[in-house]
Amino acid sequence: MSFVELIKNRKAKVTIIGMGYVGLPHAVEIAKVGFSVSGIDVQKKRVNSLNKGVSYIKDVKSGELKKVIKNKKFKAYNTYKSLKKADIVIICVPTPLDDYRIPNLSYIKFSVKEIKKYLHKEQLIILESTTYPGTTEEVILPMLKETGLEVGKDFYLSFAPERIDPGNNMAFSDITKVVGGITKKCTNLTELFYSQFIKNVHPVSSSKIAEMTKLLENIYRLINISAINELALLCGKMQIDIWEVIDAAKTKPYGFQAFYPSSKVGGHCIPLDPFYLSWKAKEYNFWTRFIELAGEINEQMPHYTVTTVNYALNQQGKSIRNSKILIWGVAYKKDIGDSRESASFEIIPDLLKKGAIIDYFDPYIPKISIQKKSASIKNSTERTLELKSIDFSLRSLKKYDCVLILTDHSKFDYEEIAKNARLVIDTKNAIKSRKHKNVFRIGG
Ligand SMILES: NC(=O)c1ccc[n+]([C@@H]2O[C@H](COP(=O)([O-])OP(=O)(O)OC[C@H]3O[C@@H](n4cnc5c(N)ncnc54)[C@H](O)[C@@H]3O)[C@@H](O)[C@H]2O)c1
Repeated sequence: MSFVELIKNRKAKVTIIGMGYVGLPHAVEIAKVGFSVSGIDVQKKRVNSLNKGVSYIKDVKSGELKKVIKNKKFKAYNTYKSLKKADIVIICVPTPLDDYRIPNLSYIKFSVKEIKKYLHKEQLIILESTTYPGTTEEVILPMLKETGLEVGKDFYLSFAPERIDPGNNMAFSDITKVVGGITKKCTNLTELFYSQFIKNVHPVSSSKIAEMTKLLENIYRLINISAINELALLCGKMQIDIWEVIDAAKTKPYGFQAFYPSSKVGGHCIPLDPFYLSWKAKEYNFWTRFIELAGEINEQMPHYTVTTVNYALNQQGKSIRNSKILIWGVAYKKDIGDSRESASFEIIPDLLKKGAIIDYFDPYIPKISIQKKSASIKNSTERTLELKSIDFSLRSLKKYDCVLILTDHSKFDYEEIAKNARLVIDTKNAIKSRKHKNVFRIGG
């Protein structure tokens, strides 16, 4: 069977490296349409629980995972051996920044080293991890070429950025996939593969175009969110309700898209990915000033939030020191269980440092670790502070001097929270009415 027929008949064996927020949903969707999928992850515990049909991601139902396991279409592994028989390999590993905000490609390079050991003719390698333009061609390709195999002839290599939006209920198959290969044949095969389980695939002329497309999408969000945060700070001073302003601006039928203030843009993507480009731009003696400015404003938002808590407590004759503060939500956005880059990891240490007594509530995140290095937790000999989510009841709110809403998880009656709490700082406009005198907002 030719490679094209293998894909069309869904007989191609697929291996996905990285069973995280991107890799796992892919594995299930690809297995659902009939491909045999192997999922590789370095975390043994994760591999074991996936093989038992237990999904740790809210958007991937354990029932669906169990079904593809039962049909023998999915299995997870802690080794890379499945790469040997794989026709298609998808890389979905993290792409963080290091402590100096420099791209850390070590996860990609480690994966490619393993792929290289098993690279063979008629194999398609796809990178899905977000990265700077040039990674596929300048980092991955030279490593794979060392095998003596030729790209576009012996094996195929492409970039296909991931666009999933955790917590958004849009069907996986409805999110158009952009694909860009090293050669035309690489692009064509990648397009053919994704069109087996995604309705619209948009081929572009190179992997660099596809890499830049993903960054443009995230830069657009970071800059616009930071711009609205800047206006929120100004509106706070001018006593203009930014939330009402946004609602009014939204009535314009064209040329305006609403973005909302918050205590910081979190997650593994928007606050980090743009800086992959800033770093790469320096190679061209170019400074991406919009990105840097947007990042700066974003990083100031947790500090502004703590200042608002300070002000609001002060209005009630209290100080942060010795105040009992309930942090409402530590996920980086509503209705998900992901806390990466969440504002809470800056705000909680800062409040602790100022002497507050902190509890938190998050229905999706049962426990968190606060790093001592940023927390300066007084008198603590531990490197980290472990906190557990409280069991929430409206009555328990009275125990706190202040409730700080960082995440507006759905299914809670925020009007009731405002009624029962002594003081609320609402960074998400979760409390819609303007009748509660005990509610302070970011931006008015
Ligand atoms: N999470 C999102 O919403 C999202 C959306 C679009 C793009 N992305 C991008 O996709 C990539 C993956 O993100 P994610 O959110 O899935 O990350 P994640 O941390 O949820 O998952 C990554 C997984 O890879 C595993 N892993 C790390 N190194 C490995 C290796 N060498 N071999 C095998 N497994 C390894 C980790 O154990 C983890 O399970 C990143 O580049 C991210 O920027 C993420």
